[in-house]
Amino acid sequence: MKSTPFTEKLGIELPIIGGAMYPCSNPELVAAVSEAGGIGIIQPLSLTYVHGYDFREGIRYIRTLTKKPIGLNLIVESSSDAYLKRMEKYLDLALEEGIRFFITALGNPTFVVKKVHAASGLVYHDVTERKWALKAIDYGVDGLICVNSEAGGHAGTLSPQDLYNDLKDLSLPLICAGGIGDEKAFGNALSIGYQGVQLGTRLIATTECHEKESYKEAILKAEPSDIVKTLRVTGVPLAVIKTPYVESIGTDVSPFASKLLQNPYTKKWMRLFYSLRSIRRFKEISLKGASTRDYFQAGKSVGGIHAVEPVPTIFSRFREIFHSK
Ligand SMILES: Cc1cc2nc3c(=O)[nH]c(=O)nc-3n(C[C@H](O)[C@H](O)[C@H](O)COP(=O)(O)O)c2cc1C
Repeated sequence: MKSTPFTEKLGIELPIIGGAMYPCSNPELVAAVSEAGGIGIIQPLSLTYVHGYDFREGIRYIRTLTKKPIGLNLIVESSSDAYLKRMEKYLDLALEEGIRFFITALGNPTFVVKKVHAASGLVYHDVTERKWALKAIDYGVDGLICVNSEAGGHAGTLSPQDLYNDLKDLSLPLICAGGIGDEKAFGNALSIGYQGVQLGTRLIATTECHEKESYKEAILKAEPSDIVKTLRVTGVPLAVIKTPYVESIGTDVSPFASKLLQNPYTKKWMRLFYSLRSIRRFKEISLKGASTRDYFQAGKSVGGIHAVEPVPTIFSRFREIFHSK
């Protein structure tokens, strides 16, 4: 069977990461990605807060669905000490439960790197440009998740090719995050030189994802030009589908909020405020099926997504491309 340094290090068949998604990463989706040959990443707040599992029990439940490697996402921005303590607790529990692959985002992942390396695991960190990549290398991470301008979630600003050119001389594995909606885009990312890809939006339009049908339909219908960035959810530009609701409330924050978001002393409190508000709102949307106030997070990969399909069906097409390279 074909393998690459990346697939060998992680002990997986395909160089595909099922990216963590708040609130869309239900345990069955995480397990399906791993079972189909990639590696599913747990989003801890999604597992506990949205999908209602005790963290350790949630991991054990996923383990009943797949014995293959799974990973954990930790957003390590220091919005509050209590928040970081909670992330550290998730990290400790995940290590106890045998997880050895971690993807950190925002902030300083040094405490994650220390503990994970002590357990012989790997930490990959999200970066959007060279200056963050250099910092991540100083923090001691093992690989870079290169979040480009096409990504769902908190997108970057550079195209997949430009971001690769910016980082290719660094001696770490580079994973392309953003814009991979179909096997052709997967092949392109590998041809650019990326060691693997991280998928987000593509995995929402799957039978294993528990998001509501209207969200999946919106992804199938959307064109890349329908993806806009809004500051109104987390205080950091977030890629969402331009729905009538998004159009009606706009994508910018007030000039006062904008000032607070830029000020180094107040920005973390503003982001905390937005995050807590969005956690509450997403929970309402996800669980109660509200429709009029929808924020459908998605990236420009919507252009390559034309059907809601099971993860193994999607991955069988990706597998063919991987083997043809
Ligand atoms: C709905 C949604 C939620 C996301 N939540 C997170 C998250 O909690 N943590 C994280 O590191 N990345 C998050 N991301 C980013 C994804 O893990 C992945 O990097 C990104 O979606 C790749 O771009 P794509 O959507 O074009 O495939 C999210 C993306 C989406 C679409």
